[in-house]
Amino acid sequence: MIELNDVRVVVPPLRRDDDAKVLLDDVSLSLVERRVAVIGANGSGKSTLLRLLNGMRKPTSGTVSIDGLDTVKDAAGVRRAVGFVFTDPLAQLLMSTPLEDVTLSLKDLPRRERGRRAQGLLDERGLGHLAHQSIYDLSGGERQLVALTSVLAVAPRVIVADEPTTLLDLRNRLMLRRALADLPQQIIYSTHDLDFAADADRVVVIDGGRVLADGAPDEAIQTYRQAMGVHA
Ligand SMILES: Nc1ncnc2c1ncn2[C@@H]1O[C@H](COP(=O)(O)OP(=O)(O)O)[C@@H](O)[C@H]1O
Ligand SMILES: [Mg+2]
Repeated sequence: MIELNDVRVVVPPLRRDDDAKVLLDDVSLSLVERRVAVIGANGSGKSTLLRLLNGMRKPTSGTVSIDGLDTVKDAAGVRRAVGFVFTDPLAQLLMSTPLEDVTLSLKDLPRRERGRRAQGLLDERGLGHLAHQSIYDLSGGERQLVALTSVLAVAPRVIVADEPTTLLDLRNRLMLRRALADLPQQIIYSTHDLDFAADADRVVVIDGGRVLADGAPDEAIQTYRQAMGVHA
């Protein structure tokens, strides 16, 4: 279970005369559903919320825990439990080829087993033939699948994905949605694709750093549309 308890995230002002900026306020959530979508306007605080879940960001006050592991006190355990998929896979792929990148994720295996295991994981995702290609020569969809393979290599219990389909074309968006749908992990994802959001068991709407709506996809998405002034 993922728990956010009375979370507030505040960043200090950049200039002395400015006010501190409140990125999230008054956020308390218990997330147990298999698929939770987070939606909201640009700048509403979605990424801030997702980054709290793997400890990339610390709450200014309040607590965030994953299966009882506190993201501040048990940071290493939380990082092992929660895999993070970025919007832009190039933000995540550290090595120059898929094989090297997945191999890097397999640090817990004995060194001589890593390469073969990495090739096996790429094969399972239908990416085996791309193992030695430069990550810059992959399509956006292939790149996002390689990033997902690297994240899954360490067998996280939870996947957090921040707008994972935003940079993809329609076909690749559907392909990634299917790939995520098939995973056994609990997945918390943000998206502007309201069809993708509707796949979730629960939708959380963020507005100005606060939870505006939270519940069944249909109702939460409707609330979001109304808040955006879209009446269709
Ligand atoms: N480190 C930071 N310092 C100052 N402002 C930030 C920082 N990170 C995010 N913000 C601001 O917080 C707000 C929410 O950002 P974010 O969580 O990225 O929103 P979203 O993902 O919904 O677009 C935005 O106004 C953004 O500019
Ligand atoms: Mg964002």
